[in-house]
Amino acid sequence: MVKPIYFNNKIKNFDKKIFVDGDKSLSIRWVLMASMALGKSRAYNLLQSEDVLSSLTSLKKLGIKIQHNKKYYEINANGLNSYVYKKNLTINAGNSGTFGRLILALLINTPKKIKLIGDKSLSKRDFSRVIKPLKKFGANFNPKNKTKLPISIKGTDFIKPIKYFENKGSAQCKSAVLLAALKASGKTFIKAKKSRDHTEILFKELKIPIKVKKTKNYDYIEIEGKKNFKAFNYNIPGDISSSAFFIVLTLLSEKSNLIIKNVNINPSRTGVITILNKMGAKIVFKNKKFYKGEQIADIYVKSKKILKSINCPKKYNSSAIDEFLIIFLVAAKAKGISYFKNLKELNQKESRRLDWGSKILNMIGIKTKLTNHSIKIYGNPNLKLNKSYEIKNYLKDHRIMAMTTIAALTLGGKWKINDSDSINTSFPSFLKIIKNLGGKIN
Ligand code: S3P
Repeated sequence: MVKPIYFNNKIKNFDKKIFVDGDKSLSIRWVLMASMALGKSRAYNLLQSEDVLSSLTSLKKLGIKIQHNKKYYEINANGLNSYVYKKNLTINAGNSGTFGRLILALLINTPKKIKLIGDKSLSKRDFSRVIKPLKKFGANFNPKNKTKLPISIKGTDFIKPIKYFENKGSAQCKSAVLLAALKASGKTFIKAKKSRDHTEILFKELKIPIKVKKTKNYDYIEIEGKKNFKAFNYNIPGDISSSAFFIVLTLLSEKSNLIIKNVNINPSRTGVITILNKMGAKIVFKNKKFYKGEQIADIYVKSKKILKSINCPKKYNSSAIDEFLIIFLVAAKAKGISYFKNLKELNQKESRRLDWGSKILNMIGIKTKLTNHSIKIYGNPNLKLNKSYEIKNYLKDHRIMAMTTIAALTLGGKWKINDSDSINTSFPSFLKIIKNLGGKIN
């Protein structure tokens, strides 16, 4: 359904403290791991977005008991082989690439065929990246050679460990192999290009036998399967990817200050902060602490009149992979030409984000040079908008909705953003926080 929202005014200056919703990567990992633990696990501040709710609904279909009240979600499981279900089951991953790809890993020993489906956006995305390694473990997929959803999986009891080289810098691929390795007897070896490491951190916390050796460009991981682990409670910190929109809202507004409380600042996720600080922002972390191997802090940011362009080193790509759309908006307002490269993966997300980033900037009068893996952005520090702009047919990619909302509130002009409910896949409190900061939604 098309649910448009309209913005006709820039946001006025603000000085506030906010919380953003729980981290999506950690929320989905908690759900998956709790469904294989021994006993009752609880999650506090679990992200209650459509992606996480699709994960919970799917696990219920797989026979997992899930309860929730105002304070927490509780999952009760019996160890690595907890799933009990009928023949011809279909599970729906909705919009979630992370859940869709990771659940396949946990089904590699399913004796009954299970069909995995997703929404329009997810059905366009590549699944061969996880199907290939999961086949090596011994799982079967139908139709053969299909690379997209819908797809069926049938497993085997004879799951053998594998050697795997992950060379995209994809945490989903690495995590799918890590999760599948739990079901194999023996040791799985992974050489992985750097990407977010929440799964490895959680495995260590749960005392699953895992060894990680980090080098500059690659991590070498060794993991032993078939070991049960105990149930665990988790208090999910705020999501830095959600925080990024409010960081940029503050940066590009006038005379504003913002504190975002209790955010996960795992270094494999903070590329956006490094990049924005290199562009002239002064974003700082305060009250840093460790929680179950993850790092958490409050983020302090203030408005910045002059921002400079960046020739973005590709080493930051994986730690900022979900933030490039909002970084492109900052580049549009920065002095000079910014260049972002080796970003082929951006066109593999919920929408073709590299192409969309360029299209939106062109729409607001910013010149870009686009290839299939890079973008040059010709920034204009005096950028002020006074025309009408409409955002539609963007495959309901929540990050396009959020990025264009921030553009409307900081650059001016009259905006109509269709499918505003797209934000509910990942960040249901987004518009409530916008209003709380003084943003006027018509
Ligand atoms: C995620 C990994 C990233 C990211 C996605 C969440 C995860 O995807 O874009 O939003 O939780 O592991 P890739 O692994 O495909 O880069």
